[in-house]
Amino acid sequence: MSTQTELQNTIADLVLKGKGILAADESNPTMAKRFAAINVVSTEESRRVYRSLLLTTPGLSEFISGIILFEETLGQKTDDGKLLPVVVANQGIVPGIKVDKGTLPLSNASGDLITQGLDGLAERLASYKDQGARFAKWREVYTISLCNPSQLGINSNAEVLARYAAICQSIGIVPIVEPEVLLDGDHTIERCLEVTQAVQHAIFHALHRHQVKLEYMVLKPNMIMPGKMFHCKASPEDIAQQTLTQLRRSVPAAMPGINFLSGGQTPEEATANLNVMNVMAGNAPWELSFSYGRALQQPALHAWQGKTENTLVAQHALLKRIRLNGAARYGHYSTVMEN
Ligand code: 13P
Repeated sequence: MSTQTELQNTIADLVLKGKGILAADESNPTMAKRFAAINVVSTEESRRVYRSLLLTTPGLSEFISGIILFEETLGQKTDDGKLLPVVVANQGIVPGIKVDKGTLPLSNASGDLITQGLDGLAERLASYKDQGARFAKWREVYTISLCNPSQLGINSNAEVLARYAAICQSIGIVPIVEPEVLLDGDHTIERCLEVTQAVQHAIFHALHRHQVKLEYMVLKPNMIMPGKMFHCKASPEDIAQQTLTQLRRSVPAAMPGINFLSGGQTPEEATANLNVMNVMAGNAPWELSFSYGRALQQPALHAWQGKTENTLVAQHALLKRIRLNGAARYGHYSTVMEN
């Protein structure tokens, strides 16, 4: 099969009405943090048990088209010996893989970060592909302050994302391009829009320079909202309106799908915001969906508590969030459905 056909097929399986992506690709340090909140020690075995629970939840494929896995998960098996990426694929869900190697401070750009992992990426991708991965994810991180992100930070991060995306496409892997402007800080919603606009403008410019085919990639952006420490919250209507304004200004119509990250929103907020976005989207050229980590997993993690006897109730909690976000894909969610 040509790489072009592979990319086409993966997009067709990944960007689907009513469905979204489950991010289950936390690095080991992040997983240790999540487990610490429920007093579970993070080991290869506890991560295997937890991720097996998530990936074997009955009914997942009704609302989930893709799952982003962490490298370790690709080689792990369920209790009855099935490889986890195979368990995913057998449900008709596309397995994906986080391929970046986390952030470091960017030299001469105080306060800005840059993501590692381009060296040897083509070889790693080829081996992930052999293990069943059909799409990849790479995250660049931007902090908002009075002077961050700097122009150097914006340009350098854009270049790295575009190089990653071009390498993915050259071997038939669909890239998810994730520029995350963090919620941390006390900035206004307008400042979030200004920064996100500059970030995405630079990224699409870089993607063009590197001849990335927008038809065969997915954007995973933050929503436009005030900082966590800003003195008042924005309504889902404000967030949806500002986010749609920003996306219409930045994202070409050739892009098939936009799958938001949740970034520290509560599960209910992330669902409500996605819902209004779809109500207000009108004739937007892209599917507006989710690629949530915490906003899908948090209730399940807390229901589980590291105990086998809680497996079913944890799976039930995951399925509930997934179903509600599936409804939000059509703008059919309402808070009464939470009960
Ligand atoms: P959150 O939805 O928890 O922000 O995670 C999404 C993700 O994949 C971050 O890279």
